[in-house]
Amino acid sequence: MESKTIPYFHSLEMTHPIWERFFQVFPLTLIGSKEPDGNYDLAPKHMAMPMSWQHYFGFVCAPTHGTYQNIQREGYFTVSYPRPQQVVMTSLSASPRQCDDSKPTVTALPTIPSLHGDGIFLKDAYLYLECTLDRFVDHLGPNSLIIGKVIAAHVHEEMLLQEENSEEQIHNHPLLAYLHPRRFATIQDSLAFPMPAGFKR
Ligand SMILES: Cc1cc2nc3c(=O)[nH]c(=O)nc-3n(C[C@H](O)[C@H](O)[C@H](O)COP(=O)(O)O)c2cc1C
Repeated sequence: MESKTIPYFHSLEMTHPIWERFFQVFPLTLIGSKEPDGNYDLAPKHMAMPMSWQHYFGFVCAPTHGTYQNIQREGYFTVSYPRPQQVVMTSLSASPRQCDDSKPTVTALPTIPSLHGDGIFLKDAYLYLECTLDRFVDHLGPNSLIIGKVIAAHVHEEMLLQEENSEEQIHNHPLLAYLHPRRFATIQDSLAFPMPAGFKR
C-alpha cells in the first residue's frame, strides 16, 4: 500500500525519540531539592511549566535522578528561573555525580535559602517558586511528571510585569530560552501578541 506523505515534510520514525530531530522553544529552570546528606541539589529542567492557571507547577524528571528521590522524600522543591548570563552555571548543575553520589559543582554555585521550606535558590535568578509535592505521574516511558503546588513565588522587582513598558522591560532585562536540543537564546526583542478582539481566557 502506498504510504501517505505531506509535501516537504519528513515523517519521523516513531521507533526513535522524535524530540532530537527539530528545535523547540522551552524555558530553562533549575529545580532545587534537599539531598539525603543534608546538602542541596540543583538540576536543570527544560520540560517545566505551570500546570494550571492556578498554582501548580510541573516538570519532567526520571525516577533514577536524585531530584525525583529527594522530592519524594522531602515533599518540597524550589524552582529558579536563571537569567541568560547564568547559562553556564545552569549547565554546570547537570554535571555528573561523583562516585559517592555528591555533586561538587552544585555546592560551588551561589545560592540563597528559600523562605518557606527547607531549600535553596540560585542567587541572582529572576523568579523563584517554592512548591510542595502534589503528585507524581509515573511511567511516561522512563520518565515521570512531578507536579508541585506552588506555596510561594518571589519575582525580582525589575521583572515584575509592567503593562505600560513591557517591550523596554524585556529589552533591559532579557529572558533565557532553551532551544532543545543543545542551543539557547537570549530574548531581548518582543512584540505585543495580537490578541483577537473580545478575547477572554
Ligand atoms: C539544558 C538541560 C536541560 C535538561 N532538562 C531536563 C528535563 O527537562 N528533564 C530531565 O529529566 N532532565 C533534564 N536534564 C538532565 C538532568 O537535569 C540532569 O541529568 C541532572 O543533572 C540530574 O541530576 P540529579 O540526579 O541531581 O537530579 C537537562 C539537562 C540539561 C543540561
